[in-house]
Amino acid sequence: MNTPKRYLITSALPYANGLKHIGHLAGAYLPADIYTRYLKAQNREVVFVCGSDEHGTAIPIQAKKEGITAQAIIDKYHPIIEQNFRDLGIDFDIYHRTSAPIHHTTAQEFFTVLNDQGALEIKESEQYYDDEAKIFLADRFIKGTCPNCKYDNAFGDQCEKCGKSLSPEELINPVSTLSGKPPIKKLTKHWYLPLNKHEDFLKEWVLTQHKNDWRANVVGQVKSWIDMGLQPRAVTRDLDWGINVPVKDAAGKVLYVWFDAPIGYISATKQWALDNGKDWQPYWYDKETKLVHFIGKDNIVFHAMIFPIMLQLHGNILPDNVPSNEFMNLEGDKMSTSRGWSIEMDEYIKDWIKTSQGNESMADVLRYYLTAIAPETKDSEFTWKGFQDANNSELVSILGNYVNRTFVLMHKLCGGKVPALHHELIDDIDNQLIDDITNTKQKVTSLLEAYKFRDAQFEVIDLARKANQYMQKKEPWIVAKQINTNPQAQQLIDNCLHLCLQLTANLAILIHPFLPFTAKKMLHMMKVVDKMLEWKNAGNIQLLKVGYSLREPLLLFRKIEDEEINIQLEKLKMKSLAAKENKMQESTTTTNDEIKPTIVFDDFAKIDLRIGTIIQAEKVAKADKLLNLTVDLGTEKRTIVSGIAMHYTPEEVIGKQVTVVCNLAPRKMRCIESNGMILMAEDKTGKLYFVNPDNTIDAGSKVS
Ligand code: MF3
Ligand code: ZN
Repeated sequence: MNTPKRYLITSALPYANGLKHIGHLAGAYLPADIYTRYLKAQNREVVFVCGSDEHGTAIPIQAKKEGITAQAIIDKYHPIIEQNFRDLGIDFDIYHRTSAPIHHTTAQEFFTVLNDQGALEIKESEQYYDDEAKIFLADRFIKGTCPNCKYDNAFGDQCEKCGKSLSPEELINPVSTLSGKPPIKKLTKHWYLPLNKHEDFLKEWVLTQHKNDWRANVVGQVKSWIDMGLQPRAVTRDLDWGINVPVKDAAGKVLYVWFDAPIGYISATKQWALDNGKDWQPYWYDKETKLVHFIGKDNIVFHAMIFPIMLQLHGNILPDNVPSNEFMNLEGDKMSTSRGWSIEMDEYIKDWIKTSQGNESMADVLRYYLTAIAPETKDSEFTWKGFQDANNSELVSILGNYVNRTFVLMHKLCGGKVPALHHELIDDIDNQLIDDITNTKQKVTSLLEAYKFRDAQFEVIDLARKANQYMQKKEPWIVAKQINTNPQAQQLIDNCLHLCLQLTANLAILIHPFLPFTAKKMLHMMKVVDKMLEWKNAGNIQLLKVGYSLREPLLLFRKIEDEEINIQLEKLKMKSLAAKENKMQESTTTTNDEIKPTIVFDDFAKIDLRIGTIIQAEKVAKADKLLNLTVDLGTEKRTIVSGIAMHYTPEEVIGKQVTVVCNLAPRKMRCIESNGMILMAEDKTGKLYFVNPDNTIDAGSKVS
């Protein structure tokens, strides 16, 4: 295949409504960074763009939660996310934002071109409207019962419990999250992109042309969408946060976030070109540009179907590939920031990099492990134990150990200088090592070109493994003892360390896309400049000049202790617990006047309700909302943790009779096991009241 004239690499624009976790990093950012670093080392012309996705309903909703404006939300998270990426070595050429004016005009121009050529359809339909708030309700502003699993807090676009995609029409008993009232239906007009008209194009382009060179998950998803039947898709919304629809009679309407966001790649390229005195146009119009979108699997339809249709209609080039990753789970469960089951990039940086003994190498450790378990073909799993093992038994024991031994021995046995290579003494073992270097370069190159980052990184470490074995066979420290008896001893030592050092230089080049901070450290030790990292130097075994003096070794990686891992595991548990408590608090305060769906008597009879007397009460440390209660149930005394501390002091509740759910499964809250639940009534203002008998009765009396 011909080398493309230039490359444009994109990573999915993250929503600027909260911190991003390491699953995101592993999915769309780290592989793109590895690929871009490799291309740049090849001296290809390449631009790597990303930025914040700042529209959509998630942003105003988050704003409401935090009690600030939508603008304040994006202004808060955009710089944090950008810095987090930088700290982890993700080297974008530009990290732009979709709130930028240049993006608004670019997206509007794009819409106008499509609209003017008649590529969009306009349709009127009835949509949910909040008559009190006087606003059409975006999917996320409607909640109700999931038709699939009956979870009663499902969103209009998705049920968070069972994961099913929904449309607001499917929800049972929908209510507006703004007013808490059931919404009404009202007529509204929207612009649609008729995907159905582009079925032939998608079949030909994805299912035929890219059947073999795109990942199976991408082709598979496109195929299943086509099989299900393509429908026109609305590209405008009734919303007050987003890019105004650039048409006269479209007041109060904005572009659908998924219409404007990918155009963000174009506006980012424009801004990059402005900043660097370049022309952006060839990147989006010249067929000799190779465009590659790195994404997570939840973004496939947008990047492999909808955006390409838009690009084609607009006259742009199409992506050459859309490498999409599956998901990365965490310690046996799906990663989720809202459920507290996640490791945010920000958190990792604070815990491992920006601490007193932390340093940039720890960014590489994360990069290494995430690439080693990259979910390229199926979901994978991050475990702290796996993280520790990857560090201790691969980075420390193989790569770090090899480089360190080489430098220590070179200082000890060769006077701190690159020793000569005595050609007449080169043997088969040496030749094998030289072959290993060239072979590894070839393998890594073709794996990177094929987006197989996991295997590529493995090959680099495998070269270090072979190098360790080489040194073990040559044993220069043993040869050093024969220096008085064997006239060739010094020359043998020289040859071994000469090759070991040349291999170290090669390792720096090959590992650089994956572990950039480590490669920089190695350059420093070898006293060579960045230019040595050019890919064409890999495979060369004369990179370091004979007689050149090198620095003392730096420690590349440090061992990670069990204790550090246990702290992280404990922290994860606490985080998810705190998130659960918050959720519970939220769901008890949302007012829902609707009566729940009917149940049969047997369902009710499963609940064992009894009257108990509170005999002890105290605050739970570090939990504003919780009281730790001891409740006398006649036959036994129970510990029950209850979320009433904002409403009652411990003194107020001692002696009170309460209704207890006795057979609720025990649950740990703040390390205290709670055995049961106290029933509370809540009034319109959110104030809580005990539910108790109108006269004092025996503790343990049944309620039915
Ligand atoms: N913000 C989206 C997400 O996090 C991704 C947008 S990618 C873009 O899922 F192409 F639309 F920019
Ligand atoms: Zn559900």
